Amino acid sequence: MTQQAEKVGVVIVGHVDHGKSTLIGRLLHDTDSLMDGKLKEVQESCKRRNVPFEWSFLLDAFQAERDQAVTIDTTQIWFKSKKRPYVIIDAPGHREFLKNMISGAAFADAAILVVDAAEGVREQTKRHAYLLHLLGLKQVVVAINKMDAAGYNEKRFNDVKAEITAYLSGIDVVPRAILPIAAREGDNIAKKSDKMPWHKGLSLLEQLDAFSPAQPPVEKPLRFPVQDVYRFDERRIIVGRITSGVVRKGDVLTFSPSNRTATVVSIEKWNAPHEILSAQAGESVGITLDQPIYAARGDVASHADKTPMLTHDFRGNIFWLGKEPLRAGKRYKIKLATAEATVTVQSIDRVIDTGDLTRTEKDFVSANEMAMVTFHSRETIALDPFADNHETGRAVIIENQDVVGGGILNMDGLADLRLQRQAAQENLHAVDHLLTAGDRALRNGHRGMVAWLTGLSGAGKSTLAMRVEGALHAKGMQTYVLDGDNVRRGLNADLGFSAKDRSENIRRVGEVAALMADAGLIVITAFISPFVADRRSARAAAGEGFHEIHVKADLSTCEKRDPKGLYKKARSGKIAEFTGITSPYEPPETPELVVDTGGHDVDECVGMIVDHILKHARISAARNPQSARAES
Ligand code: ADX
Repeated sequence: MTQQAEKVGVVIVGHVDHGKSTLIGRLLHDTDSLMDGKLKEVQESCKRRNVPFEWSFLLDAFQAERDQAVTIDTTQIWFKSKKRPYVIIDAPGHREFLKNMISGAAFADAAILVVDAAEGVREQTKRHAYLLHLLGLKQVVVAINKMDAAGYNEKRFNDVKAEITAYLSGIDVVPRAILPIAAREGDNIAKKSDKMPWHKGLSLLEQLDAFSPAQPPVEKPLRFPVQDVYRFDERRIIVGRITSGVVRKGDVLTFSPSNRTATVVSIEKWNAPHEILSAQAGESVGITLDQPIYAARGDVASHADKTPMLTHDFRGNIFWLGKEPLRAGKRYKIKLATAEATVTVQSIDRVIDTGDLTRTEKDFVSANEMAMVTFHSRETIALDPFADNHETGRAVIIENQDVVGGGILNMDGLADLRLQRQAAQENLHAVDHLLTAGDRALRNGHRGMVAWLTGLSGAGKSTLAMRVEGALHAKGMQTYVLDGDNVRRGLNADLGFSAKDRSENIRRVGEVAALMADAGLIVITAFISPFVADRRSARAAAGEGFHEIHVKADLSTCEKRDPKGLYKKARSGKIAEFTGITSPYEPPETPELVVDTGGHDVDECVGMIVDHILKHARISAARNPQSARAES
């Protein structure tokens, strides 16, 4: 027996009532993909109910059967040619279907665009064709349907063909073929019809057989979006699906956007019988690295000389589905490979009418409209222009947990921070220290680490930081406190309280804290650090020894305490962008420790933090000759 051919996913699109369901019913029948007797059963049921038989009823019957077995939102319908199996990607609701398409949940290798020979190109024909363009689907066949109703007339076919060709060429979609079919009659579906001898091309099924399953882009630069990091004692296994390229044992990888690098020590796969030396696009693997760099879900690993672009600003060519229009200034969540980020709509550059492809200037985008939009994200985002890489070049837009849009990204005319960083770093060569963190830990009797206190002004960060330091010092530990009000008088005297300045404040402090921890100190920081993204960068700088501690007290408690009288001032409008009042505070999602200063007194809170630090910074007596000596 020959090996089973790989399946091809087909999406069937087109204007309502142009014959999509009839075509599916016919494909199922003409390829013998229905259960025995199904056709008869449906025909008889039609007779009993005195309704004319429709091929689409077969699809309904097929779906009813499926629905009893499973409930999934993407219904998959299978059929088979002599060459290979096919899966038709369809969905119950139109909106659901579009969502699946733009989120990549329903992956199609090829598309059939159905156009009614009598009606010609209609609104949804164009909208769907535009979506095919947005998705970058290259294997497209146009089926001009209902040729029976058009008298199998060659001229009518040519007219509609000219109409659709004109539209498609305007959006860069080049169909592989445009075929005349009559789905209801079975003309040119599974075999060539004798009613249209003027058609010299293939039947629809032959055309599908001429397509191929989309190949994972192995030859493109490596992109390995991190899905998760599994910890087994000291080992960290970074897992994900390689979306393009190849990774090999021994490769030096850069993790974007943090820009940390490390070497691949091993490639792991569930139940792999042999050591794995390489893995490629399409494979889900785990990798281990030679260094404990901080990597997390959302990072993209690549080879150091071919990293993705880095940016805060990017453009999307998007399709909007949201009931509420997209508007400039609004904030949304976007998902890009495994990363999530909060973005603000910077500008709506143009809204594209899919009907005539004209571009209008509007300040909102309504459902079913396409638009070119510029986004800004506070976090640094790693992406590829869609033209270079499909998987890391498209994004889905989320509002209130719901997919409201999606599209393909580009960076035309926008700054790629990677280039700036590269230029700045081009002639730098890292110098290895001779002393290791382990040497310093042995000398000090504890590891270096960063205890990062975050919380509202007045939550108690500074008070706790100083008291914790005192307690640790009394135990003979090497410590230092970095405090917002202090650092802002010196190192960061040039920074104010805009979101941008706060980010830079935290970036510098994050780097300084990381250096101090590397030098062996227990660094306790007391900064509001209101933004998740900035704290994430600080974590990336310090790596494993970073512990986020949420010093928690609700706004009303902090405002009541108001130790510096700043809330009062802020309320009376004398301080702009005051955290909690006129500037947001984003609480940590998964901090290592939460201390509730509203519910516990200072001593209790100090105790909790000290215990946490001791637990993580202390090295065991066996590994610490000094303490072993002291104890003997
Ligand atoms: S952060 O947001 O950039 O992390 P940071 O912790 O360094 O802030 O500084 C916060 C301290 O600056 C507060 O404790 C307060 O004393 C003072 N401050 C002055 N203006 C503001 C403001 N607009 N928002 C918050 N804190 C402010």
